[in-house]
Amino acid sequence: MSEIKKVAVIGGGTMGNGIAHVFAMNGYDVKLIETAQEFVDRAMNTIDKNLSRMVAKEKISEAEKEATLDRIQPHLTIPGAVLDADLIVEAVPESYELKKKIFTEVDLHAPEHAIIASNTSSISITKLAAVTKRPEKVIGMHFFNPVPVMKLVEVIDGLETEKQVTESIMQTSEKLGKVPVSANDSPGFVSNRVLMPMINEAIFCVYEGVADPEAVDNVMKMGMAHPMGPLRLADFIGLDVCLDILNVLYDGFKDPKYRPCPLLVKMVDAGKLGDKTGEGFFTY
Ligand code: 3HC
Repeated sequence: MSEIKKVAVIGGGTMGNGIAHVFAMNGYDVKLIETAQEFVDRAMNTIDKNLSRMVAKEKISEAEKEATLDRIQPHLTIPGAVLDADLIVEAVPESYELKKKIFTEVDLHAPEHAIIASNTSSISITKLAAVTKRPEKVIGMHFFNPVPVMKLVEVIDGLETEKQVTESIMQTSEKLGKVPVSANDSPGFVSNRVLMPMINEAIFCVYEGVADPEAVDNVMKMGMAHPMGPLRLADFIGLDVCLDILNVLYDGFKDPKYRPCPLLVKMVDAGKLGDKTGEGFFTY
């Protein structure tokens, strides 16, 4: 398997800009694809800001920051950006239809040897692989927010993922300074299958009047040493994203233990999505 040198990241949102940031900081040439100039500008500004934070903390030098930014080339369309890529990482919102469209287009234009990875938090890798003519080269590369800080990359094999592809992505993750953990394709993989029921149960505690959000979070922060309580974390992830993932678990296993709490559904309906809307279980 040839060495991965050139990477295309599709999507410059919270996860996409973090993924572009860590690849570029570790010497990879990165093409960052967004749908409009304003989104590209926003992504590049966020990367600049997060790199400056690292300079201020003396984790990298100003020269390393500039070199990292120089390695990221923004693009507005997929074909030209993936033409010479060794690895494409898709990090667009959690819609199967949207990802299907992108996987089809990437498969058409990327070189034959290229690996196509998805940063999906719960959509089936096997199902995404099936829309391409290279299911053996499709894999899950699941990063965690904030990407420059969190150590884990959950590497998910689809039904047909080749062993060499898994090995290549595990090695690449290590080169990013991350710790890769391998899992098989299954609803929510490991991370969200364990995390989301905890978050959902925390919401049920509020819904049933067991305790208020602050008390629930304090229990988990001070009793279990979690850096953020589950409700603060839910706001940070996005309540809409939490609901989508719980629905994937619920539909995937047909098991009522994954049913989303009605309070979560109601908050998403009301547009209270957490940090990104300024209000969720807490206000920002
Ligand atoms: N880029 C670069 N550095 C960053 C950063 C960013 N975006 N965000 C934070 N940092 C750095 C800070 O500079 C600081 O560095 P230091 O340790 O050298 O001082 C360090 O991270 C800690 O940040 P802060 O001091 O500002 O704040 P906290 O100590 O409160 O930590 C946190 C913030 C790292 C977010 C911490 O609260 C945490 O670990 N929370 C849990 C996050 C988590 O669970 N993420 C996973 C979500 S699930 C997911 O993403 C998967 C999806 O499928 C749902």
